[in-house]
Amino acid sequence: MIKAVRGTRDLLPPDTALWNLVEDTVRDVFRAYNFHEIRTPVFEETQLFARSVGEETDIVSKEMFTFEDRGRAQSDKGQSLTLRPENTAGVVRAYIEHKLWDRGLSKLFYIGPQFRRERPQKGRYRQFYQIGAEIIGPPTAGSESPARDAEILTLLATLLDRLDIKDWTLELNSVGCVNDRATYNEALRKALEPVAAKMCADCQRRAVTNPLRVFDCKVPEDQPIIETLPRISQYLDEPCRKHFEAVQAILTATGIAFTLNDRLVRGLDYYTRTAFEFTHGALGAQNAILGGGRYDGLSESLGGPPAPGIGFAIGEDRLVMSLTQSAESAQRKPDVYIAPLGADMNIHAARLARELREHDVAVELGDESFRMKKSLETASKLGARYALIVGGDEVASDVFALKDLQTGEQRPIPRAELATTLQSR
Ligand code: HAM
Repeated sequence: MIKAVRGTRDLLPPDTALWNLVEDTVRDVFRAYNFHEIRTPVFEETQLFARSVGEETDIVSKEMFTFEDRGRAQSDKGQSLTLRPENTAGVVRAYIEHKLWDRGLSKLFYIGPQFRRERPQKGRYRQFYQIGAEIIGPPTAGSESPARDAEILTLLATLLDRLDIKDWTLELNSVGCVNDRATYNEALRKALEPVAAKMCADCQRRAVTNPLRVFDCKVPEDQPIIETLPRISQYLDEPCRKHFEAVQAILTATGIAFTLNDRLVRGLDYYTRTAFEFTHGALGAQNAILGGGRYDGLSESLGGPPAPGIGFAIGEDRLVMSLTQSAESAQRKPDVYIAPLGADMNIHAARLARELREHDVAVELGDESFRMKKSLETASKLGARYALIVGGDEVASDVFALKDLQTGEQRPIPRAELATTLQSR
């Protein structure tokens, strides 16, 4: 038997009803915050991720699904392609490719699959879904303003509230800008020099190539050493400190609670200044429901003009896991089950079904092989509110018996009134 690939999974009804509920809600919230949808390709040139997410990150060094795309011709050297492990790089590539700066500030959102070859476990998949958003634009359009950071964080609080997700914690940090990073990296290198030999192989390498990435280490024995390393908060320059204070002031004024965590550096290289994660208690080990931050130099490093930006991505799989609502209750049940009584009634039933569906009534259509009792049982099992009986007398009079399956009451309804009767239930 051929099964779904390890780390991937099928989403089936009724679970998909919850996913749709989440997506409908987030689309409403994005509309309220004036974000518009962008859809970028699922695969990109490998170089895009190496240059944005960073060579030394776990994502690029270990987790990407990369393949050589070769044509048939001998001369075709092939091109290295990668299934996107995240969507910020693709959005910034599209921003540059389509010269979106002409439009001022771009406020974009996306919903779609991402791919990382991680060890599968609860809340961690190799194909997972992200709901993300980015605000990006020329500095003249206000893209650098702390008001944008606060807008993103407020949007997230609104979203989680709308989905009735409580118990979340917003962890906030500033990882500084290019200037701070140079001095901070130097300090980290110095601090790591005498201790790196006692750390894991990855950390020994990171200590030299990209010391910030030491903070991504999950090896328990390395944690006491990492605990002693200098904190980025001590290395922020004046503009970065001011920016961070301004973000916090807006959050406090808008009533959004946060916890400062100066060890939060995020596992991607492009971050500058504000970085954040929302965690949720009920999720267990994989408790980061979403993460994000600023990436003020990313456009330039991909060959574009200055285009400061900030964004986030929610792990939709984890978001759905943290909902309290049941999938069963999110699934729309048929409003009516149409029961044709007899072989020549199928045609009439099909006509009625079509008419009602055009009025947005959810219809399940039975067929004549069922007797009345069996039809009513099937209708109840499906959770239909009504059964509509289509027999010879009904067709002749154009008045149909509508049975309320909750109360058991049955009423004759003229054809012309059926749709309104069912809509007003
Ligand atoms: P990230 O922290 O790598 O950030 O991923 C964001 C979220 O995606 C995580 O918090 C988690 O909920 C979910 N996620 C990541 N990996 C998996 C997985 N293997 N299985 C299930 N869920 C997963 C980014 O991707 C950045 N692009 C976010 C961003 C946008 N920063 C600025 N703009």
